[in-house]
Amino acid sequence: MIEMKDQKIDELKEYIAATQSNDNPESYLIAVLHKVQGLFGYLPREVMDVVAKAMNIPTAHIWGVATFYHYFNLKPVGKHIVSVCMGTACYVRGAGKVLEALKKNIGVEIGETSEDKLFTLQEARCLGACGIAPVIMIDDKIYGELTGKTATELIKKYRKAAKG
Ligand code: FES
Repeated sequence: MIEMKDQKIDELKEYIAATQSNDNPESYLIAVLHKVQGLFGYLPREVMDVVAKAMNIPTAHIWGVATFYHYFNLKPVGKHIVSVCMGTACYVRGAGKVLEALKKNIGVEIGETSEDKLFTLQEARCLGACGIAPVIMIDDKIYGELTGKTATELIKKYRKAAKG
């Protein structure tokens, strides 16, 4: 496990070294944070220290940038990210009920990860699919025209798939 983490840190350092050719490291910070999230699933504190050192940017500044963008996860996340759209179109077509059903089924509140580490529940603003509202996104897949029941069924499918 530790070895795997070291490997990822090495990969990250290589990535940073490759992007560092420019003399304005901050312009690459977002790309580097994306890389961290791609490797670790979230932004671990100790990895941020590695980034700060490698890029010569204060850690506090990096956290400032990371917290500004909602895209970045500051805590470990589950295998699947479930984003419930609460944009206007989805909201008026019952997103609240979908959200309540998902909270109940997954057993978490928004921003939390299920005990089995399978799902992290998030809220989103317009996922760009208003025509099929209410919409949720699981990882990079969009599902629309949902009810509390069909959304719950979807989660059950993912749960079943995870069990193999
Ligand atoms: S408001 Fe939900 S997809 Fe646009």
